[in-house]
Amino acid sequence: MSEPLYGESLLAEVYDLFNAWGEDNDFYLGLCSPAVGSALDLGCGTGLLAAKMAERVEVVGLDPAPAMLDIARARPGGGQVAWRLADARDFELNRRFDLIYCAGHAFQSFLAETDRRAVFRQVRRHLARGGRFAFETRNPAARAWLRWENAAPRRAAHPRWGEVELSQRLLSERDGLVSYRSRYRFIDQGRTLEADARLRFCGLAALRAELESEGLSVLALHGDWQGGEWREDSEELILTLARAGDQPVLD
Ligand SMILES: C[S@@+](CC[C@H](N)C(=O)[O-])C[C@H]1O[C@@H](n2cnc3c(N)ncnc32)[C@H](O)[C@@H]1O
Repeated sequence: MSEPLYGESLLAEVYDLFNAWGEDNDFYLGLCSPAVGSALDLGCGTGLLAAKMAERVEVVGLDPAPAMLDIARARPGGGQVAWRLADARDFELNRRFDLIYCAGHAFQSFLAETDRRAVFRQVRRHLARGGRFAFETRNPAARAWLRWENAAPRRAAHPRWGEVELSQRLLSERDGLVSYRSRYRFIDQGRTLEADARLRFCGLAALRAELESEGLSVLALHGDWQGGEWREDSEELILTLARAGDQPVLD
């Protein structure tokens, strides 16, 4: 089942307003080397990245939120992607991919170790020999949630719904499990919607141990979208992996 934040169709409609194309998307697109023929986008959301990727290779976009996939299907280029309503922890596509990625911090929706391990197992089962898996998660040491508390509301104009204001509020944080509330004010409509969501901030040591024991080897670790070296206080943990024991053939 999808979370309220992604399950409400009006919120899915305005998702792209506050999540435009960025350098994170450039990073993932850059992984699509000429040797890559197929890609799987886990937690594809409204499909901005998947549709762009599909200009180069065959793409499957997977997400459990029907409202997000409705937006994805309707976007320009959406017809070039095979959209699948499914959970990244438990899916069967009966095929393998050269590139699997999980972008836009979708990975932080996997709250427990059992969830992350289930995703890693699915990735290993669906990753072609020599293929790459990439994802990012915010570094818990940088404690981004503390800055969300005082972040100014953001405003943007939607072609159909007019001016929309998004503000976010931290509800709680414990051992890297963060609960927060998003408040969308549809100013022209005089309507407000709120949705609570939870995110897991998982540290590098735990991630490494889980990945390695699920048969995935870290090839690269970056701390920013320019390919900068990872440091203890980096904002992001950006990982590129391969199946353990594979010869890298897709560079
Ligand atoms: C922050 S959005 C990111 C969407 C997209 N990847 C992007 O870059 O904009 C998180 C997405 O993860 C999806 N998600 C949540 N739980 C999931 C799960 N168990 N399996 C796959 N996707 C999931 C949500 O439905 C949502 O579309």
